Amino acid sequence: MYRLLVTGGAGFIGSNFVHHVIAHTDMHVTVVDKLTYAGNRESLAGLPDERVAFVRGDIVDAAVIDELVQHSDAVVHYAAESHNDNSLNDPRPFLDTNIIGTYTLLEAARRHGRRYHHISTDEVYGDLELDDPQRFTETTPYNPSSPYSSTKAGSDLLVRAWVRSFDLQATISNCSNNYGPYQHIEKFIPRQITNVLRGIRPKLYGRGENVRDWIHAEDHSSAVLAILQRGTIGETYLIGADGEKNNKEVVEIILEKMGQPRDAYDHVTDRAGHDLRYAIDSTKLRTQLGWSPSYGDFDRGLAATIDWYRNNEEWWSPSKDSTEAFYASKGQ
Ligand code: NAD
Ligand code: TYD
Repeated sequence: MYRLLVTGGAGFIGSNFVHHVIAHTDMHVTVVDKLTYAGNRESLAGLPDERVAFVRGDIVDAAVIDELVQHSDAVVHYAAESHNDNSLNDPRPFLDTNIIGTYTLLEAARRHGRRYHHISTDEVYGDLELDDPQRFTETTPYNPSSPYSSTKAGSDLLVRAWVRSFDLQATISNCSNNYGPYQHIEKFIPRQITNVLRGIRPKLYGRGENVRDWIHAEDHSSAVLAILQRGTIGETYLIGADGEKNNKEVVEIILEKMGQPRDAYDHVTDRAGHDLRYAIDSTKLRTQLGWSPSYGDFDRGLAATIDWYRNNEEWWSPSKDSTEAFYASKGQ
């Protein structure tokens, strides 16, 4: 049986991938996750014990990682400090986990000759003007803006160097903004949904004109599995579902779907260095690997996501007060 090691598998996108792999393959999955504030074992509930193992561990810990990689056929690396606002507040954990953690995994994969897939973000490319006809492609130069995106860019470059220098059997994917169930409520969409559920008005940074290219986490997972199974070693693939929307539009749709007036939101202090627009051209992934998204309809995916947060308050409510206290301290 093919043995997959998934780092960060108790997080939002990693847990979605674990569920996806169990549903669509016969692979065995070992999750290694530190269970930081962002990790939640409940996100892995209901999976069969004989096919999924969980190890609480830090990807910076070389001994733990060496042992786990040795007993796996492939590594899919999701674990990261993932929130831009946190990276502006305290960058250090981003360097430790995103750079040193990736380095630790690469060295283990190199030692044991293992297949490695690296999960990254379109934010490594910086941002686009609102009217730029170009979107990001695999050849767009790196130009990250924040401590988060610069550490992700650094980790991508490490992977490229390990492929070139050591023949590591690696692929990289850079995906746009994900949405769906089990996303930590510090992030934009679930923060606003849970605000409305708590009777708090949604908070838009600045003028709300920033554009993100939304993709359902399930579509991200199907793309990663396709790359793991059919991708060309050494290649980078951009993952996106043509989901560009500005933040104001997203908040208005959430408010409307939740029975509130479309303008019942507040403008708050903008994010420092706030990227204006991300947009992905995923032609390579679609033409070379035959992938396409299944959740094309953002409105429908968002409605299902709202229902999930409405029905799973016990999953998110323990972190709501501390998350909002953090934002309040910054005027957001
Ligand atoms: P998340 O914050 O929800 O989950 C991160 C997980 O990693 C958590 O379970 C956490 O406990 C774990 N973790 C953190 N530090 C660790 C360490 N040192 N050792 C072991 N585990 C550790 O993040 P997410 O949104 O699911 O993002 C997952 C990956 O996808 C990241 O690499 C991120 O850069 C990338 N990505 C995210 C998005 C997005 O929209 N959220 C888009 C593109 C790419
Ligand atoms: P976020 O979910 O943090 O993702 P990223 O920074 O990776 O794009 O934010 C998405 C967008 O929403 C971004 O433009 C910042 C904005 N935003 C708000 O307007 N209000 C909020 O409360 C948050 C958390 C984000």
